[in-house]
Amino acid sequence: MNRRYRKTIIAGNWKMNKTLSETKAFADELKPLIGKPKWCEVVLCVPSVNLQAAVRLFKESRVAIGAETCHYESNGAFTGEVSAEMLKEIGVKYVIIGHSERRQYYNETDFTVNKKVHAALEAGLYPIVCVGESLEQRELGVTMDLISYQVKAALAGVPADKMRHVVIAYEPIWAIGTGKTATAEQANEVCEAIRAVIRKLYGARVARSVTIQYGGSMNAKNAQELLAQPDVDGGLIGGASLKAPDFVQIINAANQE
Ligand code: PGA
Repeated sequence: MNRRYRKTIIAGNWKMNKTLSETKAFADELKPLIGKPKWCEVVLCVPSVNLQAAVRLFKESRVAIGAETCHYESNGAFTGEVSAEMLKEIGVKYVIIGHSERRQYYNETDFTVNKKVHAALEAGLYPIVCVGESLEQRELGVTMDLISYQVKAALAGVPADKMRHVVIAYEPIWAIGTGKTATAEQANEVCEAIRAVIRKLYGARVARSVTIQYGGSMNAKNAQELLAQPDVDGGLIGGASLKAPDFVQIINAANQE
């Protein structure tokens, strides 16, 4: 973290978990535990069907609500999809774009990721753009090339003044939901490389101010060490965000004086 220059953001990614009643129960449990975190922003990305309720449930709290994806068009014949404008109008603030599960199961490509980043920014949302390598790619030694390409493709055409709304999440695919976390050094190495790519594209001031999260089996135990790295500005947390006490411990790790 480097709070002098950029926001620390702890974001839960619930994926396809929690019904409406479970969402309410979670809010009741989390709100008294969380207080008013001073040093980090807290986000919960929840299934689209529960977004409106989540916005209402967390209204008086410090928790912002995010969606897990959106479409790149603002409206039209796209059965089953939700647009960035629709999300914005109901009070959603963030949207995850290009999560590896979307890339793997729903044909998300670098091209659609880029279109969605534009749609999100256009609508006034904060995109959390996910990038990350598979185990094979890491073993081939192409991690940095791949990440650099993914970041450049995602941000193509995004002007510098919009970059203060963009969050990047480095999520090595081999660490997602596997219990295998990247070491703090591995996480920082790639987050630092992402910042270097942004520096080349937009200059030092923009690069310094962009929040770059780590995601992939971050939990109450390893959060502190990961967040202590200078280029790791928060976390995108799946499994550990489903239990309020665990999630709070991660928030506390980001919120130490
Ligand atoms: P995980 O998921 O924390 O369960 O590994 C992270 C993510 O997919 O964003």
